[in-house]
Amino acid sequence: SDSLRSLASGIGLRIGTAVNTDQLANNPTYRSITASQFSTVTPENVMKWEVVEPTRGTYDWSAADRLVSFAQANHQLVRGHTLVWHSQLPGWLTAAAPQMSADQLRAVLRQHVTDEVTHFKGRIWQWDVVNEAFNDDGTLRDSIWLQKLGPGYIADAFRWAHQADPKAKLFYNDYNIEYTGPKSNAVYAMVKNLQAQGVPIDGVGFQTHLDTQYPLPDLQANLQRFAALGLDVAETEVDVRTPLPVTPTEQSAQVAGYTQTLQACMAVKRCISYTVWGFDDGDSWVPGVFAGEGAATIYDAAFQPKAQYFALQQALALG
Ligand code: G3I
Repeated sequence: SDSLRSLASGIGLRIGTAVNTDQLANNPTYRSITASQFSTVTPENVMKWEVVEPTRGTYDWSAADRLVSFAQANHQLVRGHTLVWHSQLPGWLTAAAPQMSADQLRAVLRQHVTDEVTHFKGRIWQWDVVNEAFNDDGTLRDSIWLQKLGPGYIADAFRWAHQADPKAKLFYNDYNIEYTGPKSNAVYAMVKNLQAQGVPIDGVGFQTHLDTQYPLPDLQANLQRFAALGLDVAETEVDVRTPLPVTPTEQSAQVAGYTQTLQACMAVKRCISYTVWGFDDGDSWVPGVFAGEGAATIYDAAFQPKAQYFALQQALALG
């Protein structure tokens, strides 16, 4: 029956997935599901700094360019992920940063943001400009950016990205901000502060990495309070992991997690996209990071749709 993308299109919502570009190149089943079910794609890894500039001054856009071409061929929009982050930095940068002055490091960051956004200019719908800058207690994360540049690096990154591609929608993206609480409140306060300074921020991305061991977030009200600031919002990395092996009770909780997160987005007018962080269990990041957990996506490792898939389909069909 109807694909997720066609159902979503009927209600003006974009539905997306993170894409593993090795699978996209090598696996026809993976390619066909990516094209048929989703109307937006996010590179899972290949736009990150360590991939695009493995050696200082030498760019490699090849894998990301292939994904962007695939997206254009399949009438999909692209979420660019991610320009400024503490993780997956190139080795040369991690090695050199401690010896750099603030001005030197700021120049390196500015060049990176400018060059990457310029390379993809006109081809990115939403950029995750800054990713995961906060701790769960609402303080700023102790990254090389904060240590050397102070909190102003966040506003700078948005300004540089906007200069390079004025039409791209610029997002702040983070996890554990689906719930109201210290982290989400801190992001809310930061966004208001950026807006008051005239910083070009267009949206907030709620990653939405959920686990059946924890309660579901109060997502709709939280999305709505950010939308009320005049921002777009998006669920950017949805998955619902569980301890293995999956029991029927836990799978019901996973189904509820997908249904409720999608319905929350559908209920908020400014929620413009709902993206899963990979669609098949065989390619999910979860088992590599959370020992004994998995089954977090909507297709099994044999690319068969699970109840989680049908739950998304049904929620979209009910509109
Ligand atoms: O490419 C190398 C390969 O050459 C090497 O042989 C292999 C050995 O470990 O590692 C490969 O790199 C891995 C990379 O994914 C590409 O597959 C890294 O080890 C691995 O750590 C990395 O994991 C990614 C992770 O971000 C890194 O933090 C996951 O695939 C990716 O799903 C995950 O995505 C993040 C989002 O960007 C931000 N939000 C959270 C989300 C989940 O952690």
